[in-house]
Amino acid sequence: MDKRLQNKKVIVTGGSRGIGEGIVKRLYNEGSEIIIADIRKELAENLINSLDKNQISFFQTDLSKEEEIKKLMEFTEKKWGSLDFLINNAGIEDGYTLADQTYESYRKTMKVNMDAPFLCSKYALPLLEKSKTPRIIMITSIQGIRGYKGNISYNTAKGGLINMTRVLAVELAEKNILVNSVAPGFINTPLSVMKDGNLEWDTDWFKDVYLKYEKLPMGRYGHPDDIAGAVYFFCSEDSKYVTGQTLLVDGGVSSSF
Ligand SMILES: NC(=O)c1ccc[n+]([C@@H]2O[C@H](COP(=O)([O-])OP(=O)(O)OC[C@H]3O[C@@H](n4cnc5c(N)ncnc54)[C@H](O)[C@@H]3O)[C@@H](O)[C@H]2O)c1
Repeated sequence: MDKRLQNKKVIVTGGSRGIGEGIVKRLYNEGSEIIIADIRKELAENLINSLDKNQISFFQTDLSKEEEIKKLMEFTEKKWGSLDFLINNAGIEDGYTLADQTYESYRKTMKVNMDAPFLCSKYALPLLEKSKTPRIIMITSIQGIRGYKGNISYNTAKGGLINMTRVLAVELAEKNILVNSVAPGFINTPLSVMKDGNLEWDTDWFKDVYLKYEKLPMGRYGHPDDIAGAVYFFCSEDSKYVTGQTLLVDGGVSSSF
C-alpha cells in the first residue's frame, strides 16, 4: 500500500487504547510520525513496541491540566519544530442524570472532553502555522448532536466540541488550517463498558432498541478502524476543501428514528 501521509507529524491525544489506538495504527501505516499524548503509559509503550519506536513516541500527559498540555507542545516543538495534524481524541464518560450528577464530576468531564481540545488547539497553533498541510480533527460523538439520557456532562461537552470545530474552522481558514470532527456512534472500546461491567451491545435494551427495531441500520458495533478511516480522510489531500464539518460514523444510527 502507498504511504499517503509520509513524514507527516501528528499528535494523537488518548492514543494508548481504543479509537486512539486505531488512529495511531492507521496513520502509522500511512507513514506518519506520531506522538501519543495519554495518561496511560504502559498501554502506549506496548503499542509502540508492537509498531515502531523510531516512528512513534509517547509523552505522558494529564490533559485535564493546562500546564501538562503546555509541556506536551514544548516537547513537540523540540522534537519536530512544527506539527501537521492535531487529533483531539481523548475523552471520558461519567454517565449521570441531572439529579445524580455532581458538579465535580461534571467539571472533570468538561475538562478532558472540551477544555483539553481547546487548550491543545491553542498551544499547538504556532506549530500548526509552520506546517504546509495543517489540520485539527476533533473526535466528538453522536451524543453531541442529540440528547442521550443519563450522560449530561458528556453530551454537553461533545455538543460544545462540535461547535468549537465550526468556530475554529471559520477562524483558522485564513491560516489554511482545516478543522473537522468525526462523530462516532457505538464503537467497541473500553469506553463502551458500562458501570456494571457489561458491554452496551450485550444488554437486552440495546438488542431491543438498536437491533430488533433496527435503530442501528448496519446491525453491528463499530470498531476503531472504522473511525480511523474517517480521520485519515480529514488528514488527506482528498479533504483539502472541507472545513468545519462533522462526519457521523455510526452505522446509520443518526439517520433512523
Ligand atoms: N467508544 C465509543 O463508542 C465512542 C462513541 C463516540 C465517541 N467516542 C469518543 O472517542 C474518543 C475515544 O474514546 P474510546 O472509546 O477510544 O475511549 P477509551 O477510554 O478506550 O480511550 C480513551 C483514551 O483517552 C485517555 N485519556 C482519558 N483521560 C485522559 C486524560 N485526562 N489525559 C490523557 N489521556 C486521557 C485514556 O487513557 C485512553 O487511552 C473519546 O473522545 C470518546 O468520547 C467514543
